[in-house]
Amino acid sequence: MSVPISEIITRFNNDLETTRQKGHPEPTAMTLSTVNAQGFPSSRVVLLKAFDEKGFVFYTNLTSRKAQEIQANPQVCLNFMWHNISKQIRIEGHATQVSDEEADAYFATRPKQSQIGAWASKQSSEIENKMDFEKRIAKYGLKFATSKVPRPDFWSGFRITPSKIEFWQKRDFRLHERQVFTPENSQEWNEVRLYP
Ligand SMILES: Cc1cc2nc3c(=O)[nH]c(=O)nc-3n(C[C@H](O)[C@H](O)[C@H](O)COP(=O)(O)O)c2cc1C
Repeated sequence: MSVPISEIITRFNNDLETTRQKGHPEPTAMTLSTVNAQGFPSSRVVLLKAFDEKGFVFYTNLTSRKAQEIQANPQVCLNFMWHNISKQIRIEGHATQVSDEEADAYFATRPKQSQIGAWASKQSSEIENKMDFEKRIAKYGLKFATSKVPRPDFWSGFRITPSKIEFWQKRDFRLHERQVFTPENSQEWNEVRLYP
């Protein structure tokens, strides 16, 4: 069966709104899995900050482990688990860095303390001395005390262009529903159902 990508994104959006309305504390939290150059996988939670037919966007430090792994291998997987509506959504795809303009626009919406935190954190690197992080926060707090905080060039976002989207819905007696969508062309996607 063929489905327009716009319908799949609308369905994702509807599920996201339902889990939010039913009180999910962190509905945009998603597990991001990457694989390093040696083929070892690693997973961590990041927040979804934008999505549309072009893909799913999160932001991070470009020197972090995840960003390094994406640079070595841009094939990644996202997973949303929305317990309060018994849904899991799995998205496989290709990560590309967002434009500087897009990252600047998002960075500008963050609270100033988070912007300073982005400057201060050498994400995923070892903290050599206990107070080093606090010192860096104080340093950048002072540096930007009376000015706007520009986006650090080591901080940006990635857009995951999906190549497979699976909706999993819990049903009684483990007779769960799984619908998997893969692209036929840029607008139309093919839908298949899998045994649970
Ligand atoms: C709820 C939640 C949301 C998070 N959101 C982000 C995020 O949007 N970006 C980010 O870089 N790290 C985020 N983190 C921290 C990551 O899980 C991770 O610890 C960090 O990015 C370092 O990962 P890495 O060493 O694999 O690169 C979040 C953690 C949690 C628990």
